[in-house]
Amino acid sequence: MITVYQIEFATPEYDESVALRYEVLRKPLGLEYSPEQLSAEWSDIHLAAFDAWGKMIGILLLSPLDKQEVKMRQVAVAPEQQGRGVGAALVAASEEIARSLEFKKMTLHAREAAAPFYLRLGYQTVGDQFEEVSIPHYKMEKML
Ligand SMILES: CC(C)(COP(=O)(O)OP(=O)(O)OC[C@H]1O[C@@H](n2cnc3c(N)ncnc32)[C@H](O)[C@@H]1OP(=O)(O)O)[C@@H](O)C(=O)NCCC(=O)NCCS
Repeated sequence: MITVYQIEFATPEYDESVALRYEVLRKPLGLEYSPEQLSAEWSDIHLAAFDAWGKMIGILLLSPLDKQEVKMRQVAVAPEQQGRGVGAALVAASEEIARSLEFKKMTLHAREAAAPFYLRLGYQTVGDQFEEVSIPHYKMEKML
């Protein structure tokens, strides 16, 4: 059983989510989050997934870009929980929230290895491959 709900910035749950993101997204690349990067997250929507025991197993952030467009970022599922539908549940919940806030388009920067995951969920690549956090990415988008 997976539960997905919104968590608040600068709470113990937020700290747990940063630790999860660090393990999944930053540590394997030998990178850290800077204080500036984290403090800029106060205005993001933070969605977390929990297992049946209340352990946080996934996280996703939404950053509004303008009135129409919202960016999905920092999508991370705990390694032992990957491939069980947690990521898909987070993306579906984020799209529901974005629609309820009347955004029209979801965009994201997908790591090359994760692009098939987003394609599976109806996202399309836009433009050429580019480099971000030292690895290849594609811009992807979906109309909401
Ligand atoms: C990419 C990630 C978020 C996907 O979450 P997940 O919980 O493992 O994915 P799900 O189990 O919800 O998969 C949903 C569908 O996508 C497919 N899928 C998931 N990851 C995939 C991948 N890397 N390549 C191809 N297909 C993939 C699944 O097979 C599943 O397909 P199905 O519906 O036909 O069964 C997760 O694996 C992860 O955190 N990876 C490491 C960090 C990362 O790359 N984050 C994304 C940064 S852009």
